[in-house]
Amino acid sequence: MRYLAILGRQPEISLAELEAVAGSSYRLVKMYHSKNGAVLVFDAKELEIERLGGTIKLAQKIDLAPLEYLRGLPDGKITLGVSDCSRKATRKTAATEALKLKKILVRHGRSVRVVENKEAMLTTATSLHNGLSGKNERKVEFIKLEEDWYRVVGVQDIDAYARRDQVRPARDARVGMLPPKLAQILINLCGELNDGARILDPFCGTGVVLQEALLMGYRAYGTDISERMVEYSNRNLSWITDSFSRLSATSSDSPIDAQHQRESLVQSRFQVSLGDATTYQWEQPIDAVACEGYLGKPMSQVPSMITLKTEQQECKAIIVGFLKNLVGQIKVGTPVVIAAPAWLRDNGSYSRLNIIDEIENMGYNVSNKTREGLIYARVGQVVARDIIILRKK
Ligand SMILES: C[S@@+](CC[C@H](N)C(=O)[O-])C[C@H]1O[C@@H](n2cnc3c(N)ncnc32)[C@H](O)[C@@H]1O
Repeated sequence: MRYLAILGRQPEISLAELEAVAGSSYRLVKMYHSKNGAVLVFDAKELEIERLGGTIKLAQKIDLAPLEYLRGLPDGKITLGVSDCSRKATRKTAATEALKLKKILVRHGRSVRVVENKEAMLTTATSLHNGLSGKNERKVEFIKLEEDWYRVVGVQDIDAYARRDQVRPARDARVGMLPPKLAQILINLCGELNDGARILDPFCGTGVVLQEALLMGYRAYGTDISERMVEYSNRNLSWITDSFSRLSATSSDSPIDAQHQRESLVQSRFQVSLGDATTYQWEQPIDAVACEGYLGKPMSQVPSMITLKTEQQECKAIIVGFLKNLVGQIKVGTPVVIAAPAWLRDNGSYSRLNIIDEIENMGYNVSNKTREGLIYARVGQVVARDIIILRKK
């Protein structure tokens, strides 16, 4: 299938995620940076946007001309949006295409509403709130790329991410706020995993990685050195299992049975224990490890050299200690994806932990992308996350 994807703010991370999820079916066709974000054209097996933290819109190439495509839709009112990501696209080129299509369709007796373009690309919120996320046959967003046309099949559900992030019962600003989409990316960077695979987060904190693992159909196993964090993760994971019906037991004639069934399902789906990641003996099986490691102190300004050195030493000792402890407890080929800290420098670049060679000598294969650096940061953020992708040798 030929896809066009509009990637998130850190395109190299979104790209790594797509490659990992599509696996051997992935073939790059082209990638370029437009003013509305990075655009990637690629071939791959069927993908679902709900599973991708780093992709904003996903569209599939249509073989028919857009007019023929629209004329083939079932009876009823059509809602139409056109985004244009061609090199010379403007708000006007997109709007003109939409109005041209509307005019012909109306002449043929169809009722059409065009979603107004404020720019060449409709924003995620506009697409989402006008129902253009590919779920309704007659609500269509096309993306035009030069002579080719794509139909949007998925739009990132920014509202669902915000709910998952903000409505969780146990939150703690001191351990940082791992955005749910980054948690999803960390899990996806583990590569193809079987349904129900058991994912370990040894620095689970409030449980964002574990929560996303459950929502993706995996089992979640967390440990943390802090009793308070273990309690927070337990609370959040119980909440997520209660709130999202996909994880609940199927209906039963007796409500008591259903309750029992649900509780045992929930218990078998997640487990959280107290443990120091540098010494803990985890229960098996561990099919993949995805985590945000200890990031040091929160900071609001670029640290002095002395502070940076102290922070780096502390964080390095914990991450290296953890990887040494882990390597003997996982099978060959097990993926390990860690978000490690990186600190903003005065010149705007990030200072990373210098640990890659050491990790390789411990018995892990290090991905090439990790060597180049995969930094996830908001503009101006002082402590960023440096994503490290490993597999046990
Ligand atoms: C940056 S936070 C992770 C936050 C987490 N991603 C979340 O969803 O809230 C790092 C966590 O590592 C834990 N931690 C620090 N040192 C540790 C160690 N040696 N072993 C296990 N956990 C540790 C802290 O208690 C903290 O919860």
